[in-house]
Parts: sequence; structure tokens; C-alpha cells
Amino acid sequence: MNKMTDLKPGEARCPAQSTQDIIARDKIAAPDWVRSESYKYLGSEDINTQRYIDPDYAKAEMERLWTRTWQFACREEHIPEVGDYHVYDVGPYSFIITRVGETDIRAYFNACLHRGTKLRASGTEGRASEFKCSFHGWSWNIDGSNKKVVCPWDFPHVDAARLNLPEARVELLAGFVWINMDKDAPTLGEYLGAEALSHINAWGLENRYIALHVQKPIPANWKLTVEAFQEAYHVIETHPQVAVSNADANSQYDIYGEHVDRFISPLGVLSPHLEGKYNEQDILDQFTVGDAGVLEGNRLMVGDSTARQVMADMFRGMFEKAARADLNSVSDSEILDCFSYTVFPNCFLFPGISLPMVYRFRPDPKDHRSSIYEVMFLRPVPKDGPRPTPAEPIMLTLEQSFKEAEGMDAGFGAILDQDTDNLFLQQEGLEASAKHGLTLGNYQEIRIRHFEKAVDKYMAMPPKKP
Ligand code: FES
Ligand SMILES: [Fe+2]
Repeated sequence: MNKMTDLKPGEARCPAQSTQDIIARDKIAAPDWVRSESYKYLGSEDINTQRYIDPDYAKAEMERLWTRTWQFACREEHIPEVGDYHVYDVGPYSFIITRVGETDIRAYFNACLHRGTKLRASGTEGRASEFKCSFHGWSWNIDGSNKKVVCPWDFPHVDAARLNLPEARVELLAGFVWINMDKDAPTLGEYLGAEALSHINAWGLENRYIALHVQKPIPANWKLTVEAFQEAYHVIETHPQVAVSNADANSQYDIYGEHVDRFISPLGVLSPHLEGKYNEQDILDQFTVGDAGVLEGNRLMVGDSTARQVMADMFRGMFEKAARADLNSVSDSEILDCFSYTVFPNCFLFPGISLPMVYRFRPDPKDHRSSIYEVMFLRPVPKDGPRPTPAEPIMLTLEQSFKEAEGMDAGFGAILDQDTDNLFLQQEGLEASAKHGLTLGNYQEIRIRHFEKAVDKYMAMPPKKP
């Protein structure tokens, strides 16, 4: 009898070694939150295509989903001093994120209370002693209180003492400034749930800084763009060049509450799709002397060890030197593996050391078939130096390759190009399709189902304008 048929839906796994098998053999053992699993079967129904192709659906998301969810607006290091501000936009909404005191950060709705002009242009940042409107000169102090109404005699009906700039809620976590337009939303801690919160805290991302920031428009709905990065199932077809040193079908997927999920994709091991085709030295060579080579010309040998262990040791030495940080207590898995957490709706944290990134996804307010994708590399702050200032975003055009962003590793830029080239085809294919639904794998695509369940939850709510 076929053993597979005895399994309930969601119980089947890739027959190769599991992510936990791989991590259990590491020399420097991983902490509990790496060595745990949290998968849950959430059904097998198709995901209706409408949500990706209907402009009315996108409009409804603006009033139901984006106005109620916690979003990462900027890093604390974007606004280190009192008076520093950073403008964050999502859809039609815009906020001036301002440091009002050492630990007091506010998010003002970016609109004048006279006739509505934006107080600061989108995409700007700087230091302010006041927020003055460029139209008729009404102004506000950085604490949001009104400073001046020009010709107050003409506004006897306006009480300047009560003319504070309206605020979104703000919470700080792991060096990120999070905002939520919904006054009735749960706290960020409740929203993330205790377990996910403990993972995020454990990674110590407050001790990182943005070393590289790249932004690019993507010709696909924002949810398709998110979902392209939620599974390793596509690696063998989309990124065959990395499969030689990358677990893919045996990556691990976890969900935590309603708003957070993750995968762990181990590096330094062969894809189960390629079993028997490469040996340990090939795995090491692919990673260290191939296209994305980190040690061009210096061939490392596996010897009695494994490719994974040699890579972990090499990375540990390399990152300790680069960050002037002591990584002795950090496990091999944290150093080497690709960890990715989604914080619903639009933030991905990749807190691992070898691929330390944050992604942010935002809908294009004028076109439901287009989204804005940002990649930020979050490197450790050197332990004996000042905190570096965050990198300015490099704005790529639709036609440009990620490889063109200065500072981007060419091999990694090529991977991002492969990911995003598919998206244009997927958006058009969904519009051309006679099927009207996406079919998902029960295990490898659980993050997508989990993400869309959260979308469903917010879309079932009534509109809520801030
Ligand atoms: S619109 Fe701002 S002062 Fe008139
Ligand atoms: Fe990918």
C-alpha cells in the first residue's frame, strides 16, 4: 500500500531529509525558536483570482485592510534626532513620521487642516522645527500642536488650541517604526502574537542598519508580489543556479497566529530535486566559486567535513570581520540559512546573518496591476563604531535590472530579476485564464494560503476610513 495515502491532507512532506534533520547535525546548535515547527493545515480550496485582477477589489482593500493593519513605516535610524521626520505613504495615505522626544515618535496624517495640502512631499525626509503648509502658511509644532493660523480674525470658528494634527498609532519594535491607522486595532504585540514576537525580539534587529535600499515598481498586484517570495517551491525552476546548494522542497514552513508566518530554507545542502547528481564538493564549489561566488579564485575543500559546515565556518569568520562583531554564540543555522518571516500585510523580515534583509510591498494606488517592491539589507551595526546612517533608496525603473543597483551582489540581483520577471507573466496569465483560481500545495504554499486568509478576514469587515 502506498504510505502517502495514509496521510491526512497537509501531513505529507518531501521524502528527503527535513530542515530540522539538517539543522540538528550542525556544530553550533540552534536555539529553540529555530528548532521548532508550527505548521497547520488550512484547507485545499483554490484561491479566487478576482482579488488580483479586479480594480474594485483593490479599492476595497484600501478601506478595509490597509486602514486596519500594522505597517513598518521606517527604521528608527531614519529619524535619530528630535525633529527628524520621514514621509511614509501607502496607497493614497501619507504620514509624517516624526521624532518628538527621545522615545516619542508620532505619525501625523500628512495633510494641512486648512485646505488639505500635504505638509511634506511624499518620499522626503529631513529635520524640522515646524511643519508649515506651503499654500497659506498655517503651521504646526513638531509635537502636532497648532503653531499658527494666518489671519486668525477670519477663522473665529477655528479653535487653534484644538487644531492638533491627527495621528496614526505608533509602536516601536526591533528598530522598526510601525504604524496603524485604526484606533481600535490590537496592540502590535497582540497582532503578532507572543510566539512570533519572541522570535522577532530574539533576532536583535535593533542592532542592524540599512546598508543598501533598493526600490522598484513591479507590474503585478501587490499580493502576487508578496507571494512570489513566500515559498521555495519555485527555486528549482526559477533559480536553478542556486538549487545545488539550497534545500528547497525540504524547506520548513510555519504559521503563527493570523499575521505572521515563516520559512527556513537551509543552505549548503543539495536540493532534493538534484539528489545523486552532485557531491559535497560540488555544493561547496557552487556557492564559493560560482556566479554568486564569495571567494572567487580561492577554492575551499570539504575534506572530512560537509559543504554546509565549511560554509557556516567561512561565513562566521567573514561576518565577524566585516561587522567587527563576535558571532561565537550564534548558531550555524542563524549564520547560514535563509529565514523569512511575513508580518502581514506587507513586511518580510529575513533576519539571518548571510541574507539579512527586509522587504516591503505596497500597492500602486493608481493601478491594481502594479506594486512597489523594496529590498533593504540590514547589516549588523559595528560594535565599536557609531551607527551608520541608513542608505538612501536607489530607485530603479521598471526596465532596470536589480543588478544595476550600486552595491547589489550581481548573483543576488539576478535572482531578484528572475523572481520579478515571473510576476508580469503571472498577472497577465491570471487575466487570461479560464480557471479563475490558484491551486496551492498544502505544505510548501501554506504561507500563501495563510496570507490570503488574513486578506479575507479584513475584506469581510466594513470599510473603515481613518
Ligand atoms: S491649505 Fe494649508 S494653509 Fe491653506
Ligand atoms: Fe525566488
